[in-house]
Amino acid sequence: MTTRLTQALGVRHPIVLAGMAGGPTTPELVAAVSDAGGLGTFGLTGMSLDAVREAVGRACALTSAPVAINVLVAPATPPDPSAPDPRAVLAPLRAELGMPEAPSAPPPAATPQELVAAGLEAGARVVSVGLGDPGVVAHLARGAGAPLMAMASSVEDAVRAVDSGADVIVAQGSEAGGHRSTFHVPEDGVVPLVGTFALVPQVVAALDVPVVAAGAVMNGRGLAAALALGADGVQMGTRFLVATESGAPEGYRRRVRTARDTDTVVTRAVSGRPARGIRNRLITTLEAAGPPALGYPAQAGATAGVRAAAAAADDPEMIALWAGQAAGLSGSGQSAREIIEEVVAEAEAVIRGLARGL
Ligand SMILES: Cc1cc2nc3c(=O)[nH]c(=O)nc-3n(C[C@H](O)[C@H](O)[C@H](O)COP(=O)(O)O)c2cc1C
Repeated sequence: MTTRLTQALGVRHPIVLAGMAGGPTTPELVAAVSDAGGLGTFGLTGMSLDAVREAVGRACALTSAPVAINVLVAPATPPDPSAPDPRAVLAPLRAELGMPEAPSAPPPAATPQELVAAGLEAGARVVSVGLGDPGVVAHLARGAGAPLMAMASSVEDAVRAVDSGADVIVAQGSEAGGHRSTFHVPEDGVVPLVGTFALVPQVVAALDVPVVAAGAVMNGRGLAAALALGADGVQMGTRFLVATESGAPEGYRRRVRTARDTDTVVTRAVSGRPARGIRNRLITTLEAAGPPALGYPAQAGATAGVRAAAAAADDPEMIALWAGQAAGLSGSGQSAREIIEEVVAEAEAVIRGLARGL
């Protein structure tokens, strides 16, 4: 399956593993996707520079195929002094998890530029950006000769991303798991929710660069549909959460595999920016208290301790269960290579079947 995307990235299959910050994209998962002919991507946001060097270096040692790095470049949003502090709201959950009353302040986070520079030095060959203007790292990608991918959830942002230097656009439909990839979040938190089926052909019509469809692409039917809409490939997050090499805890995988179509919500409660995840006690507790008090990314920092302790205890009720609306189609027990091979074979069969007039 040769498309403009496989040519631009130097990969065999038009399938991109979404960079997923927070642990799912292990070196083993990233390397396995790239080695199987897709593009494995690390979600670097929140990692220390030493951890980036080690993880990217390890993935590059495991495969000779290109490996990508992803950073979130969203600007901070202001606090809402009228809303209750999430640390107080989460106190009962902290007590249940046996955590200390006053969580210690997190170490200062590395900037997107520092993360990208470290990832490129460690051997990454593609740079990918979400939640904002890719221009802030374009010079680093150019300097390294690395294609620059940017995720957008509206035609307007997609056009701006190309103006800022993006070589490939990931068109993120509203079905997608994780954060909504918008340049801007208005004060009321209402961001565009254009579905993959509506967004992809309109982005394709507006641009000349390769377009990758993201949001509820779970199998070969999804890949074939994306190609039929004019996309040059797909980016999949939720499906790879349950791959054997993923870093997602078992309780998280179980909730993903068993999710119904109506189980996810878009919420600002966890990080201060809108993101789609499976509704659980963390979300309902925070939402019941009102709008996010701290804005992005401070709200994410304030909820991070509970989420980390819950992940360590494998308690899916108190971690952020980011997942897309088609999570229930993820299957289980497959390696990344098996997922890629199955998706490609199924897409080819679907396309052949359609051509025969089935
Ligand atoms: C657990 C999880 C974490 C994510 N983290 C990131 C991230 O760090 N950077 C990013 O650009 N996109 C991130 N995304 C969004 C993906 O890039 C992509 O838009 C989404 O996974 C596509 O929809 P799907 O989950 O239905 O496949 C994340 C998605 C999930 C499910």
